[in-house]
Amino acid sequence: MKGRKIVLGVTGSIAAYKSAELIRLLAGSGAEVSVVMTESACKFISPLTLRVLSKGRVYTSLFEDMSMHLVHVGLAERCELLLIAPATANIIAKLAHGLADDLLSTIALAVKSPVLIAPAMNEAMFGNPVCKSNMKFLKSMGIRFVEPGKGELASGKIGKGRLAELEKIVEEAGKVLSEKVKKDFRGRTVVVSAGPTREAIDPVRFISNPSTGKMGYALAGAVRERGAKVILVSGPCYISPPRDVKFVKVETAAEMRKEVLASSKKADVILMAAAVANYRPKKKFSEKIKKGKAGILLELESNPDILAELGKNKGKRILVGFSMETSSHIRRAGKKLREKNLDFIISNDPLQEGAGFGSETNIVKIVDRKGNVEELPKLPKEKIAHIILDRVA
Ligand code: CTP
Repeated sequence: MKGRKIVLGVTGSIAAYKSAELIRLLAGSGAEVSVVMTESACKFISPLTLRVLSKGRVYTSLFEDMSMHLVHVGLAERCELLLIAPATANIIAKLAHGLADDLLSTIALAVKSPVLIAPAMNEAMFGNPVCKSNMKFLKSMGIRFVEPGKGELASGKIGKGRLAELEKIVEEAGKVLSEKVKKDFRGRTVVVSAGPTREAIDPVRFISNPSTGKMGYALAGAVRERGAKVILVSGPCYISPPRDVKFVKVETAAEMRKEVLASSKKADVILMAAAVANYRPKKKFSEKIKKGKAGILLELESNPDILAELGKNKGKRILVGFSMETSSHIRRAGKKLREKNLDFIISNDPLQEGAGFGSETNIVKIVDRKGNVEELPKLPKEKIAHIILDRVA
């Protein structure tokens, strides 16, 4: 684990004292450990002890040092593994519901790295159906667990819930860090559309929407990492495209249609994340429209529906669309899935906080052809991209 950056989250369990030894073991194997303690963890073990062992990298509050006002962002970006040990039932519940009310839960929501959780709690809590269902859900999101051991608990009772052996936790951390991203899209060609389209009114004005392309770029990057040959057809965006993808820049829906249809011939999977404008001005003024006293009437005509066209010639391709709605989300998403002949549709609502245009995170529901609806919590768009790809794979 030499030089690998681990963020160790310590929460308020009696086993928190073991984190001192855990830091020593992780540091001993060469890892660079930053420690994030919750408020209740600080009651079980002093931050000073951990500060000495971790060479000063201990954080206890979101607002600890205003020169690092974005502590969570910095830690989350640098982190290669978020290890939470010991993890209480409370932090597990917060993670399962996307809560971010302290430094550790905020980092957990922001990290793009793998997350490994070593629970420690009493047997009744560990066996509680709510806690079990939270853990099951987190596992389905790709979060890893080091199962607690059986033995004497703080209550004096014998049962399952004590923190796993520290050597076991270090071994699992090493395993997760050495895992390579799976290459389940190797040999496949994937077309991704992203961003908005712009429909010109005159040389300086256009009709568009606030899409930033983040979701589509995250999909393109993730599927590239997983071994696919990627063609990213993008409307105007201000973020850098992922490395090693064929990048095709377009402006209008008509241009996007032309490029997507052309590259779709070779594609196994098409992911339409673009926010295509449904209408364009019937006439483009060749000169800038001058202001006048009276208002002007803009006549619009329909743009082609690219995805519907792809659905008519689907062949063996997997087609994934996005559905942005502000009400009747699932009913309308299902209707689009059927009408456009899709395999999956990803439903999202731009009015929800932490979802939609421009946000780093999204809150989506994945709907399939059988009408199954999989509800995901608020997650970084990169993580959502991987979960969508897991379903497509
Ligand atoms: N789409 C497309 N071509 C269009 C409009 C949309 O290919 N002219 C695709 C989008 O990329 C998305 C899906 O169709 O994957 C659904 O887009 P959405 O805007 O949610 O719905 P629309 O079909 O445009 O219908 P409406 O705007 O009436 O909800």
